[in-house]
Amino acid sequence: RAYLVGAQPQADMAALNTALLALVASLQPGAEEVARQQVAFEAVRRVLSQGWPQAQVHLFGSTANGLSICNNNDIDICLELPDGSDSLSSKGEVVEQMAKLVEEAGMKDVLPLPKARVPVVKFVVGETGTKVDVTVNNILAIVNTKLLRDYGAIDQRLLQLCFVVKHWAKRRQVNDSYRGTLSSYCYVLMCIHLLQQRAPPILPCLHALKPSTHRRTVGVWQCDYHDEVSSLEDFGAQNTETLAELVWAFFEYWAWKHDYNNSVISVRTASFLTKAQKEWTRRVGNERHLVCIEDPFELTHDLGRTVDRQTSGVLHKEFERAACILRDCADPLEKLFEPY
Ligand code: CTP
Ligand code: MG
Repeated sequence: RAYLVGAQPQADMAALNTALLALVASLQPGAEEVARQQVAFEAVRRVLSQGWPQAQVHLFGSTANGLSICNNNDIDICLELPDGSDSLSSKGEVVEQMAKLVEEAGMKDVLPLPKARVPVVKFVVGETGTKVDVTVNNILAIVNTKLLRDYGAIDQRLLQLCFVVKHWAKRRQVNDSYRGTLSSYCYVLMCIHLLQQRAPPILPCLHALKPSTHRRTVGVWQCDYHDEVSSLEDFGAQNTETLAELVWAFFEYWAWKHDYNNSVISVRTASFLTKAQKEWTRRVGNERHLVCIEDPFELTHDLGRTVDRQTSGVLHKEFERAACILRDCADPLEKLFEPY
């Protein structure tokens, strides 16, 4: 599996691109599914608003950022309380109260996890079969969902690449941060970063563009960036790379080019930082920093910190497998997405 410098894919890239675009179209949720998610969200919103009339109820995650893959029955919801209740213990209490309330309202399989790192209540909306996670004052997630949606509005190749990478990660079972691989959120940041690195770039650095039109402070974090993306629609026009070329670039990068020992990818700066700069050079508790991806807002958060020795091997092998298939197969798609 040696890396051949300058290796090029075997496939006819124009044909591969057509096939990938067809795949992306087939992964998009249909109108019925979108409507069902909306029904589930409204049902939850109604219940939570009865319990907390002053609160706001937000949808976040893939159903809110435009990156939901079809047959995704999960939605992420955040209850934003007007003040206080920011300590972990009071979030836990709110989670317990929510669990009672949604149970009384007839939601199924209610499971409160008040002591989790991010306290959450999980349940199922019976009418639609939708699995719901509700968190409390998870404001960073609302802001980072908006950041992803804003990047997605700049160049459609980002959405296409994210669909392909997420689909691959689900099929190959490397999309589970609880089991030591990477979250979808992390894969999307990896895609944004790749498009920021192309020459010429396909995406700008929204944190660096001035003025910062979106301004919000969340705890100690200053979450400012430029969100007037409608004026950036032509940003990537100088770059004519196709989806197929970008999929190849993504896997080639993570298989053979990323410096796992030293490098941190940073969407916030559209550049590479070093582990030394971030003080991510040694293991602290369970945080090993084997694959380093900086959260764009919560700057001490390494999204790869859940990766351990074993799963970093699994991930690297999967990136290599994908890159080799693209390099060596004339018709790579079926094999690339073969279920693990
Ligand atoms: N999130 C976060 N920090 C993480 C993981 C997730 O802030 N370490 C937040 C992000 O706002 C993300 C949301 O939780 O958008 C949902 O995460 P995830 O399920 O990983 O992403 P989705 O885009 O919802 O992907 P999927 O379609 O696979 O559910
Ligand atoms: Mg989700």
